[in-house]
Amino acid sequence: METGGFTPATLSALIALVRKHTGIAMTERKSVLLERRLRPRVQALNLSGYQAYLDKVEQDRAEIPHFIDLVTTNDTLFFRTPQVWDYVEQEFLPQWWQAHSGQRLKVWSAAASSGEELYSMAMLCEEFAAAHPGFSYQIHATDISRQILALARDGQYTGRSVERIQSSHPDWVKKYFRASGNGLRVVDVLKKNVELAQHNLLTPLSPARQFDLVFLRNVLIYFDQEQQQTILHQACPSMAPRAVMIVGESESISGLNTAYQFDRPMIYRLK
Ligand SMILES: C[S@@+](CC[C@H](N)C(=O)[O-])C[C@H]1O[C@@H](n2cnc3c(N)ncnc32)[C@H](O)[C@@H]1O
Repeated sequence: METGGFTPATLSALIALVRKHTGIAMTERKSVLLERRLRPRVQALNLSGYQAYLDKVEQDRAEIPHFIDLVTTNDTLFFRTPQVWDYVEQEFLPQWWQAHSGQRLKVWSAAASSGEELYSMAMLCEEFAAAHPGFSYQIHATDISRQILALARDGQYTGRSVERIQSSHPDWVKKYFRASGNGLRVVDVLKKNVELAQHNLLTPLSPARQFDLVFLRNVLIYFDQEQQQTILHQACPSMAPRAVMIVGESESISGLNTAYQFDRPMIYRLK
């Protein structure tokens, strides 16, 4: 079997360490990817090899956040999976406002990565607020990776992220972004109702909140069934009654034993 540059024993120890610190269930098939991600760090630290690096992660707590940054996959886009955003804009927001007029909408982007998801939501909320006086919102964004959260906080984007939003929402690019370096940066108005915090989804959110809408997208896929159930269970105390949970395209949770009721593909409600 292909084990990247690892010995079989190092690869098993690495997979166990990924699970210990992130919960992510990796298999030997990811060895080449893991090797590509860890190699620069091993070289930068001037270590003799991958086993020496694993020993460092075990012995030096300060290395754990770097390790987490390296082993997590952070792919994301603005308005990823457009039908989800059509649902939020055309159904969720008007219905929520009708039922909760005068209250503040609370949203959790629970695996926020570099922030494209939370700023997509902030743009929809800003547009909704302009048309519905009195509407206000708060977005709580979390991720296990501190490095990726720093990018989300910065709100500066280049490459595929920028190309995607320029073609899908050119008017909103003019309104909500400014040219910065060789890319775009979100304007401060999109940040004013956003708070970011590091959080491991396998642990309870503290303090528990009453979110009306939770994005838990494209993260369950990295966990085994038992861990997925734990994550979904941990989210419950932070959800308002009948709150909506949105998962990724390839993440049906209907087969799991959870407190969520299927509404339509990718959209669930707390029972
Ligand atoms: C592929 S991105 C998904 C980003 C966004 N939700 C989307 O759908 O475009 C997955 C994110 O989950 C985060 N993640 C992985 N394991 C996690 C855990 N145990 N707790 C919290 N976040 C985790 C990763 O750091 C990564 O940023």
